[in-house]
Order: sequence, then structure tokens, then C-alpha cells
Amino acid sequence: MQEGFVFSPVINRILVTGGAGFIGGALVRRLLRETDAMVFNLDKLGYASDLSSIGEHPRHQLLKVDLVNAEATAAAIQQADPDLVFHLAAESHVDRSISGPGAFIESNVQGTFNLLQAARNHWEQLPGERKQQFRFQHISTDEVFGSLGPTGRFSETTPYDPRSPYSASKAASDHLVRAWHHTYGMPVVLTNCSNNYGPWQFPEKLIPVVILKAVAGESIPLYGDGQNVRDWLFVEDHVDALLLVAQKGQIGESYCVGGFGERSNKEVVLEICNLLDQYRPSDAPYFALVTPVGDRPGHDRRYAIDSSRISSDLGWQPKHSFANGIAATLRWYLDNLAWCDRVCKQAGYFGNRLGAI
Ligand code: NAD
Ligand code: DAU
Repeated sequence: MQEGFVFSPVINRILVTGGAGFIGGALVRRLLRETDAMVFNLDKLGYASDLSSIGEHPRHQLLKVDLVNAEATAAAIQQADPDLVFHLAAESHVDRSISGPGAFIESNVQGTFNLLQAARNHWEQLPGERKQQFRFQHISTDEVFGSLGPTGRFSETTPYDPRSPYSASKAASDHLVRAWHHTYGMPVVLTNCSNNYGPWQFPEKLIPVVILKAVAGESIPLYGDGQNVRDWLFVEDHVDALLLVAQKGQIGESYCVGGFGERSNKEVVLEICNLLDQYRPSDAPYFALVTPVGDRPGHDRRYAIDSSRISSDLGWQPKHSFANGIAATLRWYLDNLAWCDRVCKQAGYFGNRLGAI
């Protein structure tokens, strides 16, 4: 076992769903680097997927499966024969859920149901110690809690109040996971995290959109009054939290992950533009490109996380400040414009506005 996270010695086979996506990819890379386990990556390889961040590795095996297909999902679980499952596969972009909610219900609700059924069947048949140690870890979002006013923060006891097709589908998946624990005794643990940012994020979400629009000299779309607040977390800090919860999290519990990164969208955009002014000076300040556009329908006003439980119970703390994380992220995108171009072309996405009704 290499340095870093130490799983129980019976955890030799790990299944990550959604490992060709942004957060799943970061998790797969860390598992390959910091454990000796075989890592199975179940992903349908959708528009936001890319495996170049993982590359070839003898302990990485892709299982190209759509969770909507129950038979293929059961066969994949049988093949992977996992000791630990991290379930990240989901349609993840709120704007796309507004234009096309059906795909979110299929992947996030039906897909989670199919995975739970296959995982339960697998867990029930595991022998002694492997059965004892098995965990199903469900990766969810703070958006299931709804929208905050100017004060307060979400915690594990906040009632669910999802308001977009995306967050409603994620809330449904959380409920299914808890139900499989209470009804069938499945050893599950959940995490609800705030907005992630970092390298390798498909360029349709706020931070990469701002970077790519600015570099192209195109107008930077700021929804509504730009005062909506998100709680930004560098993706590697989220991965730290996921690994800690997998090792030490209490079965049946959930952990809120985030905090320390609250900023209005306008502040985020300004910070990126100021950095770009230093890294890539242009004739005019980049912030001049910012253009208010019509608001996102049902736009949640503010998210903020109280991470007390995961900090006090498991000792998690983020290692990256927003200032450091955003500078590293910006440099990565500037060095990887060709990757952005390739994945966007592959996905048929050309920076057009998504999710306006
Ligand atoms: P992403 O869109 O970058 O990647 C999701 C991956 O899941 C893709 O590779 C996609 O092909 C795969 N997938 C989707 N539907 C599938 C299906 N039916 N079968 C198999 N694979 C499927 O998403 P992300 O930002 O990496 O988010 C990963 C998870 O973390 C999601 O569950 C999301 O809800 C959650 N989350 C994301 C954030 C964030 O800020 N990005 C924050 C909190 C929680
Ligand atoms: O809170 C966690 C969630 O964060 C995750 O569960 C989702 O998977 C993830 O996509 C993210 O959702 P958001 O909707 O908060 O992220 P997004 O980057 O799409 O938008 C962030 C904020 O920026 C939001 O208030 C909308 C605004 N925005 C977004 C885009 C794409 C803009 O103003 N302009 C834009 O072009």
C-alpha cells in the first residue's frame, strides 16, 4: 500500500460510477495513486466524459455501461465484484436539466435504482469479512436542500427542498439510497457537496465558461443580477472528503462537504478576470466583457454548507483557499485550451446558452 489513504486490507476492488466525469476522474486518479486496489470505472461515456486525465493504467478498467440498462448494470457489478462502490454517475448540469429533464430522471433516479438493486444482490452474496466491510457511498449535492436567504447554512439536518429538475432527481436518488439502507440493511453512506471547480471540468459550468469566453474575447454571460451565491470547493478537497468518508464514515449517515468558499457569481467572475489581466494582458480589462443575461429559470439564490460534522467527526479540512485553487485552475485551462476545444467539439457544445426557456 502506498502512502496516503489506507483502506481496510479487504478493500481490493473499488467501483467508481461516473469515473469518466470531472469529480469521478479526480477520484479515480487518486485511488490509482494512493491505493493498490483495482479500480473499475462504470460510465456510459456521455457528452461530459473524457478519460485522458486517467490514461492507461494496469489497475484501471473501464466498464462502458449506461445505468439505465438494468441488465448491463447487474453484469457490470458481477464483473467488478466490488468491495466498495462510489456512486457519482449522474447528469449534473442544472441548465441542461431545465431544457431536457427526462435524461436526469432516467440517469439519476432510474439509474441509481438499477445500481442499488445490483449492488444489493452482490452485497447479500458476499462472504463473511468482505460482506462486513462492504460500503455503498452515494455522492450527492447541496442543491437538494433548496435555496438560502442571506443567512444560514445547510447541514445534515436541513430538510430537503429541491427546486430544479437536476436537484429533484438527486434528492430522489438520496431517498432511494437511504431507503435501501433502512429496508434492506445495505451499508450506505452519503455526502452532499457544494460547487466543485478545478482542472478537467467540462467547459459548460460557470468557471470554465468564464475562462473560455474571456480568452476568446467573447461576452461573458452573467445570469440575472450576478448576486447568486455559491460555496466553491476545489475538487481535490472534495476527493479528500470522499476518501475519508469511505474509510471512517458512519453507516447510514450523511456528511455535508463544503464551506469556506462563499462568493457571489459576480465576485467569482471578477476574480478570474483580474487574474487574466495579470496572466494574459489585453487592451481592455477582461471584466469589460461581462454581460448580464436573462436569469436561469428557478435560479437558487444562495448555497452555503456547514461542514462541522465531517470536520469534527472525521477531521476533514479543505487544503486549498479559493485564491490558490482558482489560480491553479485558471493556469490549467490556459495550458489546456486544445483539450477544451476537443471535448466541446466531441460533445457538439459551442458555448451556447443552455437552459433558457
Ligand atoms: P460530470 O457531468 O462531469 O460527470 C458525470 C459522469 O457520469 C459522466 O462521465 C457521465 O457519462 C456519467 N453518467 C451520467 N449518467 C450516466 C448513466 N446513466 N450511466 C453511466 N454513466 C453515467 O459530473 P461531476 O461534476 O463530475 O459530478 C459527479 C457527481 O457529483 C454527480 O453525481 C453530481 O451530482 C455530484 N456533485 C457534483 C458537484 C459539482 O459541483 N460538479 C457538486 C456536488 C455533487
Ligand atoms: O452546488 C453543487 C452543484 O453545483 C452541483 O450539484 C452541480 O452538479 C454543479 O453543476 C453546480 O451547479 P450550479 O448550477 O451551481 O453550477 P453552474 O456552474 O452551472 O452555475 C454556477 C452559478 O453561476 C449559478 O448561480 C448560475 C451562474 N451562471 C452559470 C453559467 C453556466 C452564470 O451566471 N453564467 C453562466 O454562464
